[in-house]
Amino acid sequence: METKFRFNRDDKVVVLTGAGISAESGLKTFRDNDGLWENHNVEDVATPEGFRRNSKMVWRFYKERYYQSLKAKPNPGHYAIERLEEFLGDNFILITQNVDGLHSLAGDKRVWEMHGSLQSCFCTKCGTNYPIKDIDLNPDIPLCPKCGSALRPDIVWFGEIPYYMNEIDAVLKTVNYFIVAGTSGTVQPAASLVYLAKMNGAKTIGVNLLPPENLLFLDEFHQGKTGEILPKLVEKWIGVK
Ligand code: OAD
Ligand code: ZN
Repeated sequence: METKFRFNRDDKVVVLTGAGISAESGLKTFRDNDGLWENHNVEDVATPEGFRRNSKMVWRFYKERYYQSLKAKPNPGHYAIERLEEFLGDNFILITQNVDGLHSLAGDKRVWEMHGSLQSCFCTKCGTNYPIKDIDLNPDIPLCPKCGSALRPDIVWFGEIPYYMNEIDAVLKTVNYFIVAGTSGTVQPAASLVYLAKMNGAKTIGVNLLPPENLLFLDEFHQGKTGEILPKLVEKWIGVK
């Protein structure tokens, strides 16, 4: 595993992850299965229109994903990223498109879940956000404890604006190294962050099973599984033997 980069503690490093990093934890990615996500069309389960058309089905889907995520454990890829955070402290930010919570379980503290979280939901009427563990999930469509209206999963669907966009914008202006791991680079705006970082002068590094769509903007690309490659790369980057 060769890399030409070495990080100092005062380097600002941003990592962006996607579904690929959780694949070795047994969670399916989105685009490796004929465009189906756990046997569903993305349009049916990941758009506000799909939720309006069939809220019951969409809730059933996310309840299943939530229970599945509770059983999943972080893998060596997650832990390698956590090690990088430990080394860099406040000079580190992890942006993830994943909603499974595994980065936090691995111990990461500086995590921005830009596509939301399976562990929360919010009211379609009053907007109150709740940890899902505090909600009665038995009804087909769980209801807001405050106002009785329908709750919805706290997932950023297609056509909605991801979380932390202002913070991401700001951090991209000062980042020295931008690392993308386990993401196909097909969903905007996440896919263009590597490009924006590069335009701002950052060195860019990718780790993925297949070459991602934004390969062109990577200064260094490592092909393979994040669980196998990231631990070795992190050792090199932070100079641990
Ligand atoms: P994708 O399913 O599009 O891409 C996953 C990538 O991970 C693919 O390029 C695979 O080659 C790669 N991969 C698979 N297993 C791997 C492994 N063990 N190690 C390294 N790479 C591996 O997932 P995302 O890019 O995360 O949005 O998709 C982005 C967004 O699209 C998701 O956040 C989701 C979806 O619609 C929402 O739900 C809002
Ligand atoms: Zn409410």
